[in-house]
Amino acid sequence: MTANAPKLFVKSYGCQMNVYDAERMADALAPEGYVETQSAEDADLIILNTCHIREKAAEKVYSELGRIRKMKQETGRAPKVAVAGCVAQAEGAEILKRAPVVDLVIGPQSYQRLPELLREAAEGRRPVDTDFAVEDKFERLAKPSPKAIASRGVTAFVTVQEGCDKFCTFCVVPYTRGAESSRPAAQLIAETERLVAAGVREVTLLGQNVDAYHGEGPDGRTWSLARLMRALSEIEGLARLRYTTSHPRDMDDELIAAHRDLPKLMPYLHLPVQSGSDRILAAMNRKHTADEYLGLIDRIRAAQPDLALWGDFIVGFPGETDADFEDTLAIARDAAYASAFTFKYSPRPGTPAADMGGQVPEAVKDERLQRLQRLISDQQAAFARSLVGREIDVLLDRPGRHPGQLAGRSPYLQPVQITAPGAAVGDVIRAVVTDTGANSLFAAPAGGARDILHEPAEATA
Ligand code: SAH
Ligand code: SF4
Ligand code: F3S
Repeated sequence: MTANAPKLFVKSYGCQMNVYDAERMADALAPEGYVETQSAEDADLIILNTCHIREKAAEKVYSELGRIRKMKQETGRAPKVAVAGCVAQAEGAEILKRAPVVDLVIGPQSYQRLPELLREAAEGRRPVDTDFAVEDKFERLAKPSPKAIASRGVTAFVTVQEGCDKFCTFCVVPYTRGAESSRPAAQLIAETERLVAAGVREVTLLGQNVDAYHGEGPDGRTWSLARLMRALSEIEGLARLRYTTSHPRDMDDELIAAHRDLPKLMPYLHLPVQSGSDRILAAMNRKHTADEYLGLIDRIRAAQPDLALWGDFIVGFPGETDADFEDTLAIARDAAYASAFTFKYSPRPGTPAADMGGQVPEAVKDERLQRLQRLISDQQAAFARSLVGREIDVLLDRPGRHPGQLAGRSPYLQPVQITAPGAAVGDVIRAVVTDTGANSLFAAPAGGARDILHEPAEATA
């Protein structure tokens, strides 16, 4: 690394897979001498790693490109500008037309070709690569150094599955990420071992439909997600495993049993339902009913009663009536979420729902979103309060705001603030939850905080 090494700035939007991909792009450019910077102003290469899921997300890229154009004019600097991610995949060469500031467009399946495309861009061509048929992309991507891994912290993502064949009528993902494909288990075990050897303690397995994972196993058989997690659980030094996001139709008995049998698998499950109305679920092409979803939750809770369930909801899907929306509130109540992501339906060009009749007025969507969000935030607060007085394990992942203070995560993924002199980032410590904040928990090391358990009555809640 030299003082005048070229600097890379990646800005990611959208889901966690883009966070993972951003690291892969940095890894692909490290052998070319690129070092990462935290600001666009001093970058030699700016990559916007975009999301196409809702209109607002997709439009962000153009406002950001406008800011970059202005920054170039004002500073006289001339960084190369690349658009990557799902907008790149969906819009391809259109982006070059709409934004002359862009030097190259690259879809998620092509990141291993980034160095090559940059060379083309340096020659003044404006390459567009949105090829889908890329074999073994992950094996061809450069591997991060132990130092690069350590600089990214004690938690890491690993993409195990990409793409989606479900074609929910509202969703662009099958078009931007392509058909479902799973990485071979041996690759994933090796990648996780590399992460753990460099200090990572928690790995979250990623996929658009992660529970549809069906990769080639080292034994020549097809491995399920549960089978893969059993193997990863055996890696010494790995403290925690998570996976996200799951589709209800792919949650099978083996995966449910994994929640009971694998101590390293955290009691956390992100299982979107989208709507509580059978009519709307059918129009969305989700292929399950509200009752089937609730029955599934019952079976999962029977295997693992201590579970933080996260949902996703869309309000204002075409044709959604007040009665349909009441069904959504009802399923949210019945499923007893620890939290959920809530969205207003956003018509996406090229998806079937965008052309359906009965589009819901914006004001109605707003009102429904607010009501649902009130319910979810009450549930989130109730879930957090239920933990006060309880002992939990906290993975310390960052220094806190004050000396001696550290920040970490509960098993349920809530941020935790804790004063724990002598403890270090990367430790998993036993702690007692003492209080709840707006979006986090406060805790004290279990040994030194015993008397908290003998305080007010709600401590036993
Ligand atoms: N594969 C996951 C979700 C991937 S997209 C699943 O099947 O559940 C993440 C979330 O974005 C979805 O769960 C949905 O709630 C939301 N979403 C997707 N398309 C949307 C759209 N057109 N408008 C509003 N929200 C949308
Ligand atoms: Fe989109 Fe998820 Fe449906 Fe696939 S299963 S189409 S990613 S919402
Ligand atoms: Fe967005 Fe693509 Fe992820 S559309 S949510 S970045 S898969």
